[in-house]
Amino acid sequence: MQIKQNISLKPYNTFGIDVIAKHFVSVDTIEALNEVISLQNYPNKLILGGGSNMLLTKNFDGLVIHINLKGIEVLSEDDNFVTVRAQAGENWHEFVLWCINNDFGGVENLSLIPGNVGTAPIQNIGAYGVELKDVFESCEAIPLESKTIKTFTKTDCNFGYRNSIFKQDAKGKFIITSVDFRLTKHSHKRHVNYGTIISELENQGIKNPTIKDISKAVIAIRESKLPNPKEIGNSGSFFKNPVISKSHFDSLLKNFSDIPSYPVSDNEVKVPAGWLIEKAGFKGKRFGNYGVHKKQALVLVNYGEAKGSDILDLSKLIQKTVERLFGIAIEAEVNIL
Ligand code: FAD
Ligand code: EPU
Repeated sequence: MQIKQNISLKPYNTFGIDVIAKHFVSVDTIEALNEVISLQNYPNKLILGGGSNMLLTKNFDGLVIHINLKGIEVLSEDDNFVTVRAQAGENWHEFVLWCINNDFGGVENLSLIPGNVGTAPIQNIGAYGVELKDVFESCEAIPLESKTIKTFTKTDCNFGYRNSIFKQDAKGKFIITSVDFRLTKHSHKRHVNYGTIISELENQGIKNPTIKDISKAVIAIRESKLPNPKEIGNSGSFFKNPVISKSHFDSLLKNFSDIPSYPVSDNEVKVPAGWLIEKAGFKGKRFGNYGVHKKQALVLVNYGEAKGSDILDLSKLIQKTVERLFGIAIEAEVNIL
């Protein structure tokens, strides 16, 4: 374990923002992690996974702990289900591919989401009709203040839309070290009704899709609208989709008859923030080195050497404009540091 000084975080965040970490350490064993946690002379610590859900707006004057714990194993199985444990530093998409190759079902709709397995519970990652909570069994985490590993069950995690206990009471207090998943061994539940999955499968002439077919369809859809961070810096959806009251929605319908919505409860609907941002005129807008993606208005992008503060300012302008036009406060999904 080596603590390095003055390291650029540019290769460690998918926005590609060039800020400096005063101290940086990559940990690949629990022992090394425990050792780092107990170091008294670094009170200010930042946990870093794949860096795909953060906007770095300034240099970090503390210790960045890069989670690089690796390993995937089958813990137990019965005739129908398997419990798989993946260490926190495993790449999420590679884990999904490992599951598909073993014909373990449940995570195929979550294909191609960047980031680490250990970060997935934090915002309960979701896409194409499936959320992490649907396959989550438990996770292990070390408190930053001690070395006693704690197990969080699904109930403990209090999962919601882009939300969990790790964004509430436990925020910034734990390092997730591994996640256990409950996956199907056969008769996989196929989630194909969301978005354009069915039409994508039909285009390929597939009527009875395998989990591999679903994964491929999801990958094709994602590649058609989301920018590849290796080519254009971004952090996926910058904002969450807002939930508003049905009465607020009905009043908006008078002026915006084409506003889309998804039911949440009897009194609430979810509105796609991408639609609000597009309607506000930002889709495809470029401001020098940064802007709003031309195919997905919910994604802010770094075309080159943008500063995190430029992108933060743009996000605030978008929030203000959406609030003025629709009376809706959209909240950042990305962690701003
Ligand atoms: P990081 O950015 O490294 O960290 C995020 C936060 O978690 C930070 O606050 C960090 O301090 C903390 N953290 C990191 N690791 C740990 C740990 N082990 N223990 C405790 N805290 C930790 N998300 C979706 O839900 N659905 C999508 O469809 C989706 N699509 C995306 C598409 C693109 C192109 C991109 C760039 C991002 C997308 N995202 C999506 C967002 C992102 O991939 C997820 O939020 C992912 O889980 C972030 O993982 P990470 O390891 O990169 O997190
Ligand atoms: N839309 C527009 N203009 C746009 C973009 C979207 O009008 O530029 C409207 C359209 O009506 C479209 C609808 O928004 O039908 C939904 O768009 P899309 O299917 O692209 O999904 P999203 O709501 O924008 C969410 C997640 C994504 C996830 C996809 C697929 C959030 C904040 N984002 O995006 O997650 O991949 O659904 O399930 O919930 C992420 O979290 O980083 C992320 C990429």
